Amino acid sequence: MLRDYSLQPTEVPVHAPALLSDVRRQELKHEIKQLLAERNAVLVSHYYVDGDIQDLADETGGCVADSLEMARFGRDHAARTLIVAGVRFMGETAKILSPEKGVFMPTLDAECSLDLGCPPDEFRAFCEANPDRTVVVYANTSVAVKALADWVVTSSVGLAIVEHLAARGEKILWAPDKHLGAFIRAKTGADMVLWRGACVVHEEFKLEALHDMKRVYPDAGVLVHPESPAAVIDIADRVGSTSQILRAAQDLPHDTFIVATDRGMFHKLRKAAPGKRFIEAPTAGDGAMCRSCAHCPWMAMNELEALRDTLEYGNNEIRIDPEVGARAMKPLQRMLDFQA
Ligand code: 13P
Ligand code: SF4
Repeated sequence: MLRDYSLQPTEVPVHAPALLSDVRRQELKHEIKQLLAERNAVLVSHYYVDGDIQDLADETGGCVADSLEMARFGRDHAARTLIVAGVRFMGETAKILSPEKGVFMPTLDAECSLDLGCPPDEFRAFCEANPDRTVVVYANTSVAVKALADWVVTSSVGLAIVEHLAARGEKILWAPDKHLGAFIRAKTGADMVLWRGACVVHEEFKLEALHDMKRVYPDAGVLVHPESPAAVIDIADRVGSTSQILRAAQDLPHDTFIVATDRGMFHKLRKAAPGKRFIEAPTAGDGAMCRSCAHCPWMAMNELEALRDTLEYGNNEIRIDPEVGARAMKPLQRMLDFQA
């Protein structure tokens, strides 16, 4: 019987973002633009980080994307220096794919509960206990865990890749997100054993409160990230990665959407579909102090001042063991080739 590796709430950092005036934010954005140009660096951002950082990426020729597109963009861009605004596995993925580039992050302390909940030694034992299975790991893992895998997947391609493997008769060992794994297993019918990790943000979405919200907005579409619990996924109009959620918001006919993912996503959603209304899916039921607390504490560590300092002083460089990185490159490359 596997341990439940979900983090306890006390292990999740409580982070108070710096409160900056509008004037100060504009000054910092100006400095960051100059530094990006001086350093010939490109900014690769996830949708969950500070909206100003997302805008900076868009305005300077960088990208704001899901974890798969971030990986591809960083690998294919001509810049020798990548600045990754997101969590550490995203910076590490960029470095694995482009070992010759300098990869920096506003902070190296931005973890992910899925990564933390899947220690390499314990994961190796899990693999050794299941030697007949193809090892498929989610991108939200350390370099050492990726190096043990046959395939790395993200939420945008996990389903298609497992479908492909199951059609070849392969049995799957899946890690670390139990909700995404269960979703893929239910969709594909694949023979999968699951590690028991979870995302501290998405696991909090609540079905009953979502039903209550649906009664208030009966015509709203429901968009759900597949790291959410099965009961929430089951009532979604569209389930997908962050980029797939963005496309669904533009493509589906609804005027209003209830969105079950990190609230950082709303910045881009509102820009991409300005005529539509986006409501945060509830993470708490009746009587709770906070109706929706869906914001990743580690993504929130990406602050403008930290980004400026990284560019100014060249701190927070991602360094990985080249030999482990080379092993992790193979399953990552398989994913990128599959999706090409
Ligand atoms: P995406 O690949 O959908 O951007 O997901 C990354 C992530 O960490 C979601 O919590
Ligand atoms: Fe990890 Fe969840 Fe944060 Fe995404 S939102 S980086 S899965 S803890």
